[in-house]
Amino acid sequence: MELPAKPPWRRAGLTRCLARRPVCIKEITAKGEIRKCARLLRKSFQTVRRQFNLNRKNCPGFAAFSGRDRLEELKENGARFFGAFWGRKMAGLITVEKAGDGHYYLEKLAVLPAYRHNGLGKALVEHALAYCTAERGKRVSIGLINENTVLKNWYKQLGFVEKEVKAYDHLPFTVCYMEIALHKER
Ligand SMILES: CC(C)(COP(=O)(O)OP(=O)(O)OC[C@H]1O[C@@H](n2cnc3c(N)ncnc32)[C@H](O)[C@@H]1OP(=O)(O)O)[C@@H](O)C(=O)NCCC(=O)NCCS
Repeated sequence: MELPAKPPWRRAGLTRCLARRPVCIKEITAKGEIRKCARLLRKSFQTVRRQFNLNRKNCPGFAAFSGRDRLEELKENGARFFGAFWGRKMAGLITVEKAGDGHYYLEKLAVLPAYRHNGLGKALVEHALAYCTAERGKRVSIGLINENTVLKNWYKQLGFVEKEVKAYDHLPFTVCYMEIALHKER
């Protein structure tokens, strides 16, 4: 996959023009890479944390607070990690968990703010769906903050449909569960 040579914003007021680089999605298997994944999640979910006023007290399980230990545990329990690399830089992540009976969950989808709006998020979701299809999956679910309408509409564009909205005592927001049925090879 080759993306446009759009200069991603690196810091407020600064741009760094990246040469046209191939973007690839690779499975992350090395234990040493997990630390990078935790850092990527922390940075990427800052925007969501600020938007919805989340902190370690009101939402300790939030993805921005997933440390290396939590991610290692996830991996040991069988989750697959896929990273989107812009050149050598890991700019995005998605994890896939098998729930059984052809059902999979996508979690930890994140793209670093400086690399957003270049199609990486869509490419990660499509890669994960292709993986689930190849594993003979039948349906794939995601959970998101129900109030995040931009994100919800984006998932709808990718083919997900809303299944249910749930409130939990331990969460300061309601969770919307969306699902996509896998029909054919992607
Ligand atoms: C959701 C996310 C992965 C999309 O990554 P991306 O690489 O920008 O995705 P794409 O380039 O394929 O698509 C961009 C589209 O994402 C949609 N989008 C989803 N969430 C968005 C958000 N919080 N802010 C802006 N756009 C968002 C917009 O429709 C955008 O369209 P645009 O480029 O025309 O403005 C990225 O915004 C992100 O990491 N958000 C924070 C973490 C998060 O919310 N993860 C999802 C958990 S369920």
